[in-house]
Amino acid sequence: RIVPVLLSGGNGTRLWPLSREAYPKQLLPLVGERTLLQQTALRACDPAVFARPMVIANAEHRFVIAEQLRALGIADPTIVLEPAGRNTAPAAAVAALMAVQADPEAVILLMPADHVVTDVTAFRQAVDEGLDAARRGRFVLFGLAPTGPATGYGYIRAGEPCADAARVRQVADFVEKPDRATAQRYVASGDYLWNSGIFLLPAGAFLGELERLSPDILEHCREALAVSARDLDFVRLGKDAFAACRAISIDYAVMERTDRAVVVPACFGWTDIGSWSTLWEIGAKDPDGTVMVGDVVAEEARGCYLRGEGQLVAALGVEDLVVVATPDVVLVTRKSRDQDIKRLVERLRADG
Ligand code: GDD
Ligand code: MG
Repeated sequence: RIVPVLLSGGNGTRLWPLSREAYPKQLLPLVGERTLLQQTALRACDPAVFARPMVIANAEHRFVIAEQLRALGIADPTIVLEPAGRNTAPAAAVAALMAVQADPEAVILLMPADHVVTDVTAFRQAVDEGLDAARRGRFVLFGLAPTGPATGYGYIRAGEPCADAARVRQVADFVEKPDRATAQRYVASGDYLWNSGIFLLPAGAFLGELERLSPDILEHCREALAVSARDLDFVRLGKDAFAACRAISIDYAVMERTDRAVVVPACFGWTDIGSWSTLWEIGAKDPDGTVMVGDVVAEEARGCYLRGEGQLVAALGVEDLVVVATPDVVLVTRKSRDQDIKRLVERLRADG
């Protein structure tokens, strides 16, 4: 059975003031009633296909995560705690090391906990299509048709179909976060797919490739696991060993450099929930194109994202705004400026 691995590491500052250090975006019910972490766990919980999930997370979030999984009836997940985030390559290495300990043939499904997938059946089918290739030692990526020249994604050029599985293609080229001009060229060419950030990996082969490409990462992760401690239901990685590890994403550390990658072109209603305008894009809109969540009254509000939590948001005759009210903060910005919220939060942190 496939071991689902949920990555819950980012803090989502662009979704401030809802997303906070103590409650980052993946632990919030941003879309629907369940949190993004819960939705991710439910996507891979069919016991006929999937083993118990593993969550790799920031130690500070351990109780919230355990509680959110318990609420779904997911009993005894493995929750691995990082003393500090080191990006996704070390997190993937730790997950793979734990998985091969239990089963040398293990295949893991690495899933960011901050994505929305609306077509779970198509998602499951895509995973199914990649499984044989993963069992044969290939690293399976899921590629999505790009909708624009976004620079925050990895780009995949799909090559020849694999010999025995027509839907699976070789990865001819993988470029993580290209600059704008390059991204535009890729999208215009029609030859590239976006990397979904979800990976189906044969744990043993992945560790072998890490050994070859980035042995230092593997060494620190082995050490961090060797000195790890059980704390209630949690596995606490060794603090100094893990902190000494280089921070780098799996995309740069492995996927750009390996020959083992293959891609399943897929379409499963995927969104990386990165900012308020993404939530506006996927939200249910009123006839004026405004999305309203929580306590909101609006008249002639066009193209806005309005969210009232703990306070009422009342809007009249406005356009293209994001207004998010929480008990202690009210954010007001233009939808087009939502990438800059990060800057605002950094300033607030610096000012204490
Ligand atoms: N446990 C843990 N520790 N998780 C982490 C850490 C960490 O230090 N850093 C990031 N994560 C989690 C994030 O919470 C997120 O769920 C996932 O790993 C991916 O990290 P991001 O930082 O969101 O990556 P990205 O969005 O910039 O890029 C990746 O995803 C894109 C699609 O959304 C890449 O894989 C791109 O190639 C891809 O297109
Ligand atoms: Mg992301």
